This record gives sequence, C-alpha cells and structure tokens, in this order.
Amino acid sequence: MNKPALKLAIIGGGSSYTPELVEGIINRIERLPVREIHFVDVESGREKMAIIEALTRRMIARAGVEIDIKASFDRRAAITGADFVLTQFRVGGLQARANDERIPLKYGVIGQETTGPGGFAKALRTIPVILDICRDIEELAPDAWLLNFTNPAGLVTEAVNKFTKVKAIGLCNVPVSMRMMIAEMMECTPEELSLECAGLNHLLWAHRAWIDGKDVTDEVLQKVGDGATYTMKNISEEPWDPEFLKALGAIPCPYHRYFYQTDAMLAEEKAAAESQGTRAEQVMETEQSLFELYKDESLATKPTELESRGGAYYSDASLNLIDSIYNDLKSLHVVNVANNGAIPNLPDDAVIECSAVVGGWGARPLAVGTLPVAISGLVAQVKAYEQLTVEAAVHGDYDKGLMALACNPLVPDISKAKLIFDDILKINHDYLPQFGRS
Ligand code: G6P
Repeated sequence: MNKPALKLAIIGGGSSYTPELVEGIINRIERLPVREIHFVDVESGREKMAIIEALTRRMIARAGVEIDIKASFDRRAAITGADFVLTQFRVGGLQARANDERIPLKYGVIGQETTGPGGFAKALRTIPVILDICRDIEELAPDAWLLNFTNPAGLVTEAVNKFTKVKAIGLCNVPVSMRMMIAEMMECTPEELSLECAGLNHLLWAHRAWIDGKDVTDEVLQKVGDGATYTMKNISEEPWDPEFLKALGAIPCPYHRYFYQTDAMLAEEKAAAESQGTRAEQVMETEQSLFELYKDESLATKPTELESRGGAYYSDASLNLIDSIYNDLKSLHVVNVANNGAIPNLPDDAVIECSAVVGGWGARPLAVGTLPVAISGLVAQVKAYEQLTVEAAVHGDYDKGLMALACNPLVPDISKAKLIFDDILKINHDYLPQFGRS
C-alpha cells in the first residue's frame, strides 16, 4: 500500500539536540519518507534556530536526500497538516532550569531538572504552553501524533491526555539508555536483551531482564552493585549498595539515585553548584560551544561533542516510534501512556512509563500486574505528586501545588515546601500567569 510522505513539526527546533534528530531522519529515509520538516521556536531563540536550520540544510544536502526544510516562529503554520508533532521546548530556557536547580538547594533539598521541586517548577511553566499547542493540533492537524519529549515528560503527557483530545505519547531516552548499558555489561547486543519495564518517567524499573529467554535480572543487579557503568551524562554516578539492589530485586533507573541515595546526591549537587555550577549552568557552556561548532560551514554531520549532553539516543527513541506507527510494526517500545490497567495499583488515567506494543493505532501498554509493595509505595507517592502538579499547573491552584510538593518524597518538610514554592512563584512570575500572584 502506498503511504503518503510525512510532515514533521518540531517545536523547540532551535534545541542543540536537533542535529541528532535530523541524523536519525536521514538514516531512516527509506522507511520514513519525510517530505517536510518545519522547525518552530520562540523569537528569543532566533539565532539558534537559524544555525540549526543552516546545519540541517547542509546535513540533508550531504546525505543527498530531498526534504523541504522550514524554520519559523509560526507555530500554526508548522502544525498545519503535520503527521507528527515533536515537542522538545524549554519554557524560560536554561536560565529557568538553573533557577529550578538553585532554589531547592538553598533549602537543602535536591535541585534537579525533572524530579523534586525543580521538575515541579518546570511542569508549572510547561503545562499551559503544551495545552496551547494542543489546541492548535486539535484545530489544524487533528489526526497528528504528538510525541512529547518536553520534561517532565510523563507528567506533561498526563496533562495533555486529561485536558485535550490530542493523540499523545510521551518519550524519554532513559529506557533506551538502560537497554544499551545493560547490554554492554552483559556483553550481548541490545536486540538480544529483553526488559520488562514499568514505573513512571524518570522512576522506571526494569522488573525483569532476559537474554535468549534466560532470566538474568540477578546477574544484572550484581554487576550494577559491583560498579558497572550505569548512569546518564547528567547524573553523577553514585555507587549502588549491592545489598540494597539484591533486596530491591528490580533494576532501578539512573534517576532512582535521587530517591534512594538522597543525601549523597544532595552533597554532590551542593559541591558541584559551588565549584563548576549546577547542571544547567554547565550545560549553558556546553551549548555555547556546540552552537559555535554548528556554525562551521564545513560541518555537515552531527558532531560527536553532542554526546556530552544527557539526552543520548533520544533521536532513536522518537524515530523508531514514528517508524512503528507509520509502518504499523507492532513492535515493543517503552513509552509514556495512560495506564489503563497495566499497573493495577494506579488509576487508569495515570500516565505510566512502560513496555508497550506500538503500531498504527498507537501504543498499548503490556500488563505488568500489581507492583510489589517495596516498589508500589514510592510509585503511588510520586504519582500523587504528579496528579496534584497537573491540577496546580492547569488551574493555578496554590493549595494543590503546595500539596504536590508535600507529597513529593524529595521534599522533607512543609515549611521548606512553602519557602521553595514561594520562591518558584516569584522567580517564574512571567511564566506563571495562571497563579495571578506577585
Ligand atoms: C537525561 C534525561 C532527559 C534530560 C537530559 C538532560 O537524558 O532523560 O530527560 O533532558 O538528561 O541532559 P542535559 O545534558 O541537558 O543535562
């Protein structure tokens, strides 16, 4: 059957990650006949988007593929007629992320881009914007798929599901990174490894690992406990306690360090903030040098320097998913979708991150069954935080926001929750009109 060629709209096109996405499109052009890519960004990102646009044109010319490239500030034009809308924007830019990291640290609380109060602040800024984008999709491309990478990816996808009609799937590079790292330590190919993944975004466990049908979960846990490389570029590699891993009986994701090794991670964050700066402050410097490289007119491929960012494999995660939907592959992916009974401990409309079968119809999660008590408590608590955050972000509801922070396991005390929340509202004033406070 002849299928129509594809139009992709990339919202946040000026991101330094975009060349990885473009490389992924070029590599799959036979399977995914992309005819148009429309990058959109905000006016303040004009310079970055122009650099990305020029590099993209060089990349596709070098590869000899024919794709119509557009770059504009006209979101509606980008969305009109799109088959897939990819969201990878950052409201407030890296400065807002740096604030998210520094505010909690001031009160002795983890300051991180996506978990704890940092992720909370990012969600408050992001949710109103993504809902606006969804209104445009509903009107201008009602059949399009929204693939959301914007963090906190699970929580943001839950807001989209609850408040719009858009067909949305949330995506993260952690599951594919876990697969790569586990395959490496087990000395097998990523394809030989099967993982049963379930949890929430950035709180994902591989409950079982198999190679060739043999359960190797305990072996993996032992290797992680023995110090096998197991982290992302943006998370410090705090060693895992082997006894704890054995007791846990499931393979945690690198982000679990914030929840299970909070003191050590906090100490790392404080030390980094005082010496080289928070992660956002470090990334600002990396971004500058990346964009300097991208400007080079002789550059026509994705530079390896991009690998110093935490988002490795994000292009594979999104394009393999598009491949599966477009070509109706019915293949397995780890995605963020509505639970619908896959984890009986959670409500049906809670967005979870889990293994799912993906085809032309979208993503259907594989049932994992009731989570063990050792895991379900943390999941329920973080999900409660997420549900409250969505409500707070949509309705500008201070009480819900405060209760979200009070439910977050990384916030130890409501007096700190209040101080942090008030600082967040103050510093993000321009991005949080829904709260109507000064
Ligand atoms: C990880 C996460 C992403 C996040 C990225 C940040 O890979 O899974 O959700 O965006 O790190 O990386 P950065 O280089 O910006 O710190």
